[in-house]
Amino acid sequence: MHKPALVVHGGGWAIPDDMVEPHLNGIRAALAAGWHALERGGSALDAIEAAVVVMEDDEAFDAGRGSFLNRDGRVQLDALIMDGATLRAGGVGCVERIRNPIHLARIVLEDSPHVYFVGPGAERFAEEHGVPLIANEELVIEREVERLRRLQVQGESPADVFSASHDTVGALALDKNGNLAAATSTGGTLNKTSGRVGDSSLIGCGCYADNQSAAVSTTGWGEAIMKLVLGKWAADRVAAGTPPQQAASEAINYLQKRLSGHGGIIVIDAQGRLGIAHNTPRMAWGFATPGQQACGIKR
Ligand code: GLY
Repeated sequence: MHKPALVVHGGGWAIPDDMVEPHLNGIRAALAAGWHALERGGSALDAIEAAVVVMEDDEAFDAGRGSFLNRDGRVQLDALIMDGATLRAGGVGCVERIRNPIHLARIVLEDSPHVYFVGPGAERFAEEHGVPLIANEELVIEREVERLRRLQVQGESPADVFSASHDTVGALALDKNGNLAAATSTGGTLNKTSGRVGDSSLIGCGCYADNQSAAVSTTGWGEAIMKLVLGKWAADRVAAGTPPQQAASEAINYLQKRLSGHGGIIVIDAQGRLGIAHNTPRMAWGFATPGQQACGIKR
């Protein structure tokens, strides 16, 4: 019997002071939901799905409702979930009519011979599996309409946009059977071109899980993270004997040095050892094990 553990992140970016409390509240709620699943004897997959659904439903985060808008003013979502015991994975990209993409990704993992569905095909798959399609407008909130307007109409600089950006959620779990799992969900980047897919939903980039190495979720500038296949990069280091905290720190150093990239990463191995690192001004995180729970905004 293994000691279960759950780790979540709510994105690495310049979280302003007035967004700190909403982020912490969202992280606490995600930990509670994920931990409840583990306590009931649920699997690592059950726990991370439950945790990510909570953050997708929380407008504070760039995932689900309240996400950044793309260039056309629409929410377009990507998500991936991966099972470290079997390497089964389910991913969805560019979905516009799904309230909880991580739930759809779980159905892909469980019920499809395929690994990845995008756009209208993903939405057809959702309908065929009983997931209701919603209007894209239900995912759009006024704060994001205004943010896009400031960029497109007032010509706010990309640097300003970045400093005000929010980015991606993720969860990792180790269950009592010693199985690892990872999930990442995002609305991607502000003003992205329709059809753009970032790192979050790509295996080995924004998300990875293998019982023989580690579970990993990243946040940050997707184009750089993808080029470095950063999630798998970190997991491979853990497999080679590097402790998760060191692997996390080295991954962010690599991102910075190789591509001047910015982002954050959470890592957990099959012994429940944790790593968190980022080079963004702040990163929202949370962690739970039996009898212990912590969360914060890392600087
Ligand atoms: N890390 C989220 C994205 O670039 O889409």
